[in-house]
Amino acid sequence: MGMGGAMNDTISTNSGSSGPQTLDPRPQTPGPPLLTVTDLHKHYHIGGQDLHVLRGVDITVGQGEWVAVLGSSGSGKSTLLHLIGGLDRPERGSVTFDRRDIFKLPGAAIDRYRNRHVGFVFQSYHLLPEMTALENVLTGAMIRSSILGWPARRGEAKRRAIELLKRVGLGERMKHRPSKLSGGERQRVAIARALVNEPDVLLADEPTGNLDTETGKQIMALITELHQQGQTIVMVTHDQQIAAAADRRLWLHDGALTEGLAS
Ligand SMILES: Nc1ncnc2c1ncn2[C@@H]1O[C@H](COP(=O)(O)OP(=O)(O)O)[C@@H](O)[C@H]1O
Ligand SMILES: [Mg+2]
Repeated sequence: MGMGGAMNDTISTNSGSSGPQTLDPRPQTPGPPLLTVTDLHKHYHIGGQDLHVLRGVDITVGQGEWVAVLGSSGSGKSTLLHLIGGLDRPERGSVTFDRRDIFKLPGAAIDRYRNRHVGFVFQSYHLLPEMTALENVLTGAMIRSSILGWPARRGEAKRRAIELLKRVGLGERMKHRPSKLSGGERQRVAIARALVNEPDVLLADEPTGNLDTETGKQIMALITELHQQGQTIVMVTHDQQIAAAADRRLWLHDGALTEGLAS
């Protein structure tokens, strides 16, 4: 949509040369920080053992930026993403969104953050099996609304859900239940659901982890397109090829993040 096929893919080095400006619609440098993670610590206590999973994680995510967090299985990637999305609480540290620490917000405000400002995509889709694709996308909008406010919002939410399902290529599958959809189609429904409240940040946890290579590539193409349209994304993955599409790669190792390449 609006993206010419002959787009210049080269990233300008901004070296002061008098060459032509790149046609890439994305800004050359990330926008102002949208999300800041500072000194995040997370322990799990299980069977008398203390597992110190995150040991002082710091990240700054700029407006419009796509950050990939890489790490081996068990390194704490999902834990980190859940904390960023306000699904869990750390023992120490902060996640600052819009200049406020989400863990210091009152309960209703952290719910609002989770429901309106972030959208989640999980490896295993997490769709409701008894609902159609359209109803699954609508649940995202319903969660955001108060029970009393929902009847008034439903029509608009439905229009948006339909538009999103068309955008992810499922215009002909809206009445299908998840069991009648392929893995790639299920993940497209999950992406549409994550976007229904126009979140500031899309949080994706191994979004292609359950898909074959070809289907995974299609999902990555969709995520890339969303990013080109301005969506800020934090994605975690163990797969370097998947992470290569992001603007920036961070490595989670021994509970801390390092920028760029690691072994
Ligand atoms: N709710 C939990 N209770 C106890 N241990 C957990 C819990 N969630 C995750 N862990 C442990 O924390 C570590 C990091 O898990 P996770 O964040 O899921 O890693 P990743 O997503 O990188 O594979 C693992 O050793 C895992 O077993
Ligand atoms: Mg995980």
